[in-house]
Amino acid sequence: MSWPRTYLLLVLSTAPLALAQMPTYRLGRTPTAEEIRAMEVNVGPMGKELPPGKGTSEEGAAIYAKKCAFCHGAKGQGVGPFPRLVGGKTHPFATTIWDYIETSMPRSMANPGLRDGKLTPDEVYALTAFILYQDKIIQETDVMDAKSLPRVRMPTRDSRLDRLTPVVEEPKD
Ligand code: HEC
Repeated sequence: MSWPRTYLLLVLSTAPLALAQMPTYRLGRTPTAEEIRAMEVNVGPMGKELPPGKGTSEEGAAIYAKKCAFCHGAKGQGVGPFPRLVGGKTHPFATTIWDYIETSMPRSMANPGLRDGKLTPDEVYALTAFILYQDKIIQETDVMDAKSLPRVRMPTRDSRLDRLTPVVEEPKD
Protein backbone atom coordinates (compact mmCIF):
# COMPACT_ATOMS: atom_id res chain seq x y z
CA MET A 1 0.00 0.00 0.00
CA SER A 2 1.87 3.02 -1.10
CA TRP A 3 -0.87 5.56 -1.65
CA PRO A 4 -1.20 6.83 1.92
CA ARG A 5 2.50 7.70 1.85
CA THR A 6 2.18 9.58 -1.41
CA TYR A 7 -0.81 11.34 0.02
CA LEU A 8 1.12 12.35 3.12
CA LEU A 9 3.99 13.64 1.01
CA LEU A 10 1.56 15.62 -1.05
CA VAL A 11 0.02 17.20 2.03
CA LEU A 12 3.44 18.05 3.48
CA SER A 13 4.74 19.49 0.25
CA THR A 14 1.75 21.76 -0.27
CA ALA A 15 1.75 23.13 3.29
CA PRO A 16 4.35 25.88 2.70
CA LEU A 17 2.49 26.86 -0.43
CA ALA A 18 -0.73 27.24 1.55
CA LEU A 19 1.07 29.49 4.04
CA ALA A 20 2.54 31.60 1.27
CA GLN A 21 -0.94 32.06 -0.13
CA MET A 22 -2.39 33.36 3.14
CA PRO A 23 -4.09 36.62 2.31
CA THR A 24 -2.79 39.81 3.92
CA TYR A 25 -5.68 41.64 5.48
CA ARG A 26 -5.15 45.32 4.93
CA LEU A 27 -7.02 46.25 8.08
CA GLY A 28 -6.02 48.58 10.87
CA ARG A 29 -2.82 50.55 11.22
CA THR A 30 -0.01 51.07 13.68
CA PRO A 31 -1.23 53.29 16.54
CA THR A 32 0.47 56.67 16.82
CA ALA A 33 2.63 57.47 19.86
CA GLU A 34 -0.11 59.86 20.97
CA GLU A 35 -2.74 57.11 20.86
CA ILE A 36 -0.55 54.75 22.86
CA ARG A 37 -0.01 57.47 25.49
CA ALA A 38 -3.75 58.07 25.68
CA MET A 39 -4.36 54.37 26.33
CA GLU A 40 -2.34 54.09 29.49
CA VAL A 41 -0.19 56.17 31.75
CA ASN A 42 2.92 54.50 33.06
CA VAL A 43 3.85 55.93 36.40
CA GLY A 44 7.26 55.46 37.96
CA PRO A 45 8.19 55.53 41.68
CA MET A 46 8.60 59.31 41.82
CA GLY A 47 5.24 59.88 40.20
CA LYS A 48 6.43 62.44 37.65
CA GLU A 49 4.04 61.01 35.07
CA LEU A 50 0.93 61.31 37.27
CA PRO A 51 -1.88 63.15 35.49
CA PRO A 52 -4.08 65.90 36.95
CA GLY A 53 -6.94 64.74 39.13
CA LYS A 54 -7.58 63.98 42.80
CA GLY A 55 -9.49 61.78 45.18
CA THR A 56 -9.96 60.82 48.82
CA SER A 57 -10.58 57.51 50.54
CA GLU A 58 -14.17 58.56 51.24
CA GLU A 59 -14.78 58.92 47.50
CA GLY A 60 -12.86 55.74 46.77
CA ALA A 61 -14.98 53.64 49.15
CA ALA A 62 -18.09 53.90 46.97
CA ILE A 63 -16.25 53.04 43.74
CA TYR A 64 -14.43 50.22 45.49
CA ALA A 65 -17.66 48.65 46.76
CA LYS A 66 -19.09 48.68 43.25
CA LYS A 67 -16.11 47.70 41.12
CA CYS A 68 -13.51 45.97 43.27
CA ALA A 69 -14.97 44.33 46.39
CA PHE A 70 -16.29 41.36 44.41
CA CYS A 71 -12.72 40.10 43.91
CA HIS A 72 -10.68 41.83 46.59
CA GLY A 73 -13.16 41.65 49.49
CA ALA A 74 -15.17 44.41 51.19
CA LYS A 75 -12.12 45.50 53.20
CA GLY A 76 -9.43 44.59 50.69
CA GLN A 77 -8.70 41.28 52.42
CA GLY A 78 -8.82 39.28 49.16
CA VAL A 79 -11.34 36.65 48.04
CA GLY A 80 -10.35 33.13 46.97
CA PRO A 81 -7.58 33.35 44.38
CA PHE A 82 -7.76 37.15 44.21
CA PRO A 83 -5.05 38.99 46.09
CA ARG A 84 -5.43 41.02 49.25
CA LEU A 85 -4.85 44.73 48.79
CA VAL A 86 -4.80 45.59 52.48
CA GLY A 87 -3.14 44.11 55.55
CA GLY A 88 -0.29 42.41 53.75
CA LYS A 89 3.11 43.57 52.59
CA THR A 90 2.72 47.00 51.02
CA HIS A 91 4.47 48.24 47.91
CA PRO A 92 7.56 50.41 48.60
CA PHE A 93 6.04 53.22 46.51
CA ALA A 94 2.46 54.48 46.72
CA THR A 95 2.64 55.43 43.05
CA THR A 96 2.90 51.73 42.12
CA ILE A 97 -0.62 51.16 43.44
CA TRP A 98 -1.89 54.02 41.29
CA ASP A 99 -0.10 52.63 38.24
CA TYR A 100 -1.36 49.10 38.85
CA ILE A 101 -4.98 50.19 39.17
CA GLU A 102 -4.76 52.53 36.17
CA THR A 103 -3.16 50.01 33.83
CA SER A 104 -4.99 46.81 34.74
CA MET A 105 -8.07 47.20 36.93
CA PRO A 106 -10.92 46.45 37.23
CA ARG A 107 -10.97 42.97 35.75
CA SER A 108 -13.95 41.33 34.18
CA MET A 109 -16.03 39.18 36.56
CA ALA A 110 -16.61 36.71 33.71
CA ASN A 111 -12.92 36.49 32.85
CA PRO A 112 -10.50 37.94 35.41
CA GLY A 113 -7.76 37.78 32.78
CA LEU A 114 -9.45 40.63 30.93
CA ARG A 115 -9.99 44.22 31.85
CA ASP A 116 -13.48 45.55 32.27
CA GLY A 117 -13.64 49.22 31.34
CA LYS A 118 -11.33 52.06 32.22
CA LEU A 119 -11.23 54.30 35.27
CA THR A 120 -10.82 58.08 35.23
CA PRO A 121 -7.73 59.59 36.92
CA ASP A 122 -9.99 60.90 39.73
CA GLU A 123 -11.31 57.39 40.35
CA VAL A 124 -7.79 55.95 40.40
CA TYR A 125 -6.64 58.59 42.92
CA ALA A 126 -9.70 57.87 45.08
CA LEU A 127 -9.20 54.10 44.96
CA THR A 128 -5.49 54.43 45.78
CA ALA A 129 -6.45 56.67 48.71
CA PHE A 130 -8.97 54.05 49.87
CA ILE A 131 -6.33 51.30 49.88
CA LEU A 132 -3.77 53.52 51.65
CA TYR A 133 -6.35 54.54 54.27
CA GLN A 134 -7.39 50.91 54.90
CA ASP A 135 -3.71 50.22 55.61
CA LYS A 136 -3.62 53.25 58.00
CA ILE A 137 -0.92 54.91 55.90
CA ILE A 138 -2.97 58.08 55.24
CA GLN A 139 -6.03 59.71 56.81
CA GLU A 140 -9.56 59.24 55.47
CA THR A 141 -9.82 62.85 54.30
CA ASP A 142 -6.28 63.17 52.83
CA VAL A 143 -6.50 64.27 49.21
CA MET A 144 -4.36 62.21 46.84
CA ASP A 145 -3.15 63.94 43.69
CA ALA A 146 -0.03 64.21 41.55
CA LYS A 147 1.75 66.13 44.34
CA SER A 148 0.65 64.32 47.49
CA LEU A 149 0.75 60.70 46.29
CA PRO A 150 4.53 60.56 45.63
CA ARG A 151 5.08 62.03 49.13
CA VAL A 152 3.33 59.17 50.88
CA ARG A 153 6.05 57.26 52.66
CA MET A 154 5.26 53.57 52.57
CA PRO A 155 6.13 51.40 55.60
CA THR A 156 8.03 48.94 53.41
CA ARG A 157 10.16 51.59 51.77
CA ASP A 158 13.82 50.56 51.94
CA SER A 159 16.24 53.45 52.54
CA ARG A 160 18.61 51.89 50.02
CA LEU A 161 16.09 52.91 47.37
CA ASP A 162 16.60 56.56 48.26
CA ARG A 163 19.77 56.79 46.20
CA LEU A 164 17.87 55.73 43.09
CA THR A 165 14.59 57.48 43.78
CA PRO A 166 14.95 60.25 46.36
CA VAL A 167 11.90 60.70 48.57
CA VAL A 168 9.75 63.52 47.29
CA GLU A 169 9.69 65.85 50.29
CA GLU A 170 7.12 68.42 51.35
CA PRO A 171 8.21 71.83 50.11
CA LYS A 172 9.48 74.04 52.96
CA ASP A 173 7.43 77.20 53.32
C1 HEC B 1 -12.76 40.07 38.50
C2 HEC B 1 -11.79 40.21 39.56
C3 HEC B 1 -11.16 41.54 39.86
C4 HEC B 1 -11.78 42.76 40.02
C5 HEC B 1 -13.25 43.10 39.87
C6 HEC B 1 -10.73 43.68 40.39
N1 HEC B 1 -9.53 43.03 40.47
FE1 HEC B 1 -7.76 43.81 41.13
N2 HEC B 1 -6.84 42.04 40.78
C7 HEC B 1 -7.44 40.91 40.26
C8 HEC B 1 -6.44 39.90 40.03
C9 HEC B 1 -6.70 38.53 39.43
C10 HEC B 1 -5.22 40.44 40.44
C11 HEC B 1 -3.89 39.70 40.46
C12 HEC B 1 -2.85 40.20 39.64
C13 HEC B 1 -3.13 40.26 38.17
O1 HEC B 1 -3.66 39.31 37.59
O2 HEC B 1 -2.81 41.31 37.61
C14 HEC B 1 -5.51 41.79 40.91
C15 HEC B 1 -4.54 42.66 41.43
C16 HEC B 1 -4.80 43.94 41.90
C17 HEC B 1 -3.83 44.83 42.51
C18 HEC B 1 -2.37 44.51 42.75
C19 HEC B 1 -2.21 43.67 43.97
C20 HEC B 1 -0.82 43.76 44.51
O3 HEC B 1 -0.08 42.80 44.40
O4 HEC B 1 -0.49 44.82 45.04
C21 HEC B 1 -4.47 45.98 42.83
C22 HEC B 1 -3.88 47.21 43.53
C23 HEC B 1 -5.86 45.81 42.43
N3 HEC B 1 -6.02 44.56 41.86
C24 HEC B 1 -6.82 46.78 42.59
C25 HEC B 1 -8.13 46.67 42.12
C26 HEC B 1 -9.10 47.74 42.17
C27 HEC B 1 -8.87 49.10 42.79
C28 HEC B 1 -10.24 47.25 41.59
C29 HEC B 1 -11.53 47.98 41.33
C30 HEC B 1 -11.48 49.13 40.46
C31 HEC B 1 -9.99 45.87 41.21
N4 HEC B 1 -8.69 45.56 41.54
C32 HEC B 1 -10.93 45.03 40.65
C33 HEC B 1 -8.79 40.75 40.04
C34 HEC B 1 -9.74 41.73 40.12
